[in-house]
Amino acid sequence: MSRNIPQKHSPWGAPPVTDLNYRHAFHAGNHGDVLKHVALVFCLDALKRKPASFAVLDTHAGRGVYDLAAAEAVRSPEWTGGIGRLWGQEGLPDALARHLAAIAAHNAGGDLRLYPGSPTLIAAALREGDELHACELHPEEYAALRRSLGRAPGVRLHERDGYEALAALLPPTQRRGLVLIDPPYEAPDELALALAAIKGALHRFAHGIYLWWRPLKSASALAAVDAELMSSGAVRSTLRADLWVDAPRPEGRLTGSSILLLNPPFGLEPALREALPALAGLLAAGASGWSVRGLD
Ligand SMILES: C[S@@+](CC[C@H](N)C(=O)[O-])C[C@H]1O[C@@H](n2cnc3c(N)ncnc32)[C@H](O)[C@@H]1O
Repeated sequence: MSRNIPQKHSPWGAPPVTDLNYRHAFHAGNHGDVLKHVALVFCLDALKRKPASFAVLDTHAGRGVYDLAAAEAVRSPEWTGGIGRLWGQEGLPDALARHLAAIAAHNAGGDLRLYPGSPTLIAAALREGDELHACELHPEEYAALRRSLGRAPGVRLHERDGYEALAALLPPTQRRGLVLIDPPYEAPDELALALAAIKGALHRFAHGIYLWWRPLKSASALAAVDAELMSSGAVRSTLRADLWVDAPRPEGRLTGSSILLLNPPFGLEPALREALPALAGLLAAGASGWSVRGLD
């Protein structure tokens, strides 16, 4: 999908980030983005219910905004099975309607052309005193991120390893906030790498909200990382939500994803229980389904 760029090693000793071939432009607005961003928008709204400032650390930010008419999205129009199916729908559950409104804010005129990625959704939610730290390692994606959000108030962009940032930038000075971990999962050990980084981060910022997106490829691999996280003793409350638009497949096109929230905000569980059946119906490409539960 793109050229290889030189290997970079994480300075905190994690396995090297070898190939940054992944480009989110091929996937922006797909079912996985919809699940993740519905939860993200809910968490941002929840943080804004209190006047105290908050910070968000987006460890794998991407380029910020995705043009759905660009070559990548035309070649791989995953968004048509995701946000494309929600666009223009009325009477949706509240959490979906909020997500749609956040996307509509970047599409003046009513046609869906731009899909705002996580840092753009977050930047749009910041108030005076709130902060976003967004990390992106791919030079071209980082350059695009700078073009779209380089001057946005409260936004600090970092061309650095997001896992290293989890160790370096937490806790935030605001002492409250959200951490979004959304790696590309190109490396076979990415689940383990993210798990280790999150466990470390929890020691520094135990009461933050964590939103961790994972592909639904291997149920046993996800069960194992969840069990290890729970056994670490650092986790207080959890909420896991899975959405699949077709029967899960270990290989090939992604059919589902899972978000794990640590310290989920009040109200998220019922909101997802209302939203996910609607999403599973609207985005179905086959045997779709959903689940929402806390981890034991
Ligand atoms: C799934 S995409 C992010 C999508 C974005 N969070 C959103 O929701 O719009 C993952 C991004 O992480 C970048 N990346 C890969 N390894 C990284 C690392 N170790 N640190 C920071 N960014 C990384 C990739 O270049 C890619 O742009």
